Amino acid sequence: MNKEYILVTGAAGFVGSAVANRLNSLGFNTITIDNLSTGEKEVIPSETLFIEGNLGEQNTINKLNDYTISAIFHIAGQSSGEISFENPSYDLQSNTESTLLLLKFAQENKIKHFIYASTMSVYGNQSVLPVVETTNPNPSSFYACGKLASENYLKIYTTLGINVVCLRLFNIYGPGQNMKNLKQGMLSIYLAQALNDSKIVVKGSVDRFRDFVYIDDVVEAFLKAYKYSETNSFGTFNICTNKPRYVYELLDNIKKNCDNLIDIEIIDGTPGDQFGIFGSNWKAKNELKWEPKVDFDEGVQKMISWAKNNI
Ligand SMILES: NC(=O)c1ccc[n+]([C@@H]2O[C@H](COP(=O)([O-])OP(=O)(O)OC[C@H]3O[C@@H](n4cnc5c(N)ncnc54)[C@H](O)[C@@H]3O)[C@@H](O)[C@H]2O)c1
Repeated sequence: MNKEYILVTGAAGFVGSAVANRLNSLGFNTITIDNLSTGEKEVIPSETLFIEGNLGEQNTINKLNDYTISAIFHIAGQSSGEISFENPSYDLQSNTESTLLLLKFAQENKIKHFIYASTMSVYGNQSVLPVVETTNPNPSSFYACGKLASENYLKIYTTLGINVVCLRLFNIYGPGQNMKNLKQGMLSIYLAQALNDSKIVVKGSVDRFRDFVYIDDVVEAFLKAYKYSETNSFGTFNICTNKPRYVYELLDNIKKNCDNLIDIEIIDGTPGDQFGIFGSNWKAKNELKWEPKVDFDEGVQKMISWAKNNI
């Protein structure tokens, strides 16, 4: 019998590499496609088969025809709201066309499970917080539009025999985050600036707030989503901690844990940036049986210790 693989797209990146690593450690065979646009080849777990290519192009997807694939974790994507304004077409191709091409491939190959890395950005600015999965989406960036469109395409494909879980991931942080990409990842950006330049440039108010979730907890959410898709045809879940963390808290935490003196400069915000958001994880707790385990202060300390040795 042919060897079966789980396709984890984007395993050269922060989340994809962590998910592939965990699946490998559980005994699954994994294969990835990545175009190395923000990811790095060295980050791909050594046991994971690697195909280089752009998932928004059919000829890349065709390369999967040589393999038997039992599930798709679609994690690759252009993950910066800021870049989606600089290059909306690339964002659409990377995040939405890639999803459509993979869905067609899944349908043709009778692949039953499709787990999607969506985002809290689909909510945009909301007056009632925390956001719940039934909150009306209000995307304020092209990035968020593309992710929401993907969620809708995915939902339609459930009628064509694919079980789908959309994880609306909030701000993920932790060891392994890309410290060179200064357009994605609030904590990693501030930390990279603090360690490299002793100066943090904050784009927007320090009163903005986010819901930070630790990478190990996010990996666990992907595993729970996979299990959920065995018996459910569709689910959308907030992957978050229920707690707002303010930019000024983050800055204090970094200053406290770094040895150098750090200047702070506040400049204008980026287009489409949400002012403040946090989510309810009630549905994930009840239906996915997932809840975050890592406390914020402990997580930030782990991230900072790791970053000091990996900058
Ligand atoms: N990190 C977060 O806080 C966060 C929050 C919400 C949602 N997400 C989503 O989770 C996913 C992973 O995010 P991440 O933080 O690991 O980002 P990342 O940039 O570290 O990883 C993304 C990976 O996808 C690859 N990639 C991008 N476009 C591609 C394309 N067209 N074809 C093939 N490969 C492509 C990149 O090279 C990279 O290796 C993304 O889809 C992102 O939108 C992340």
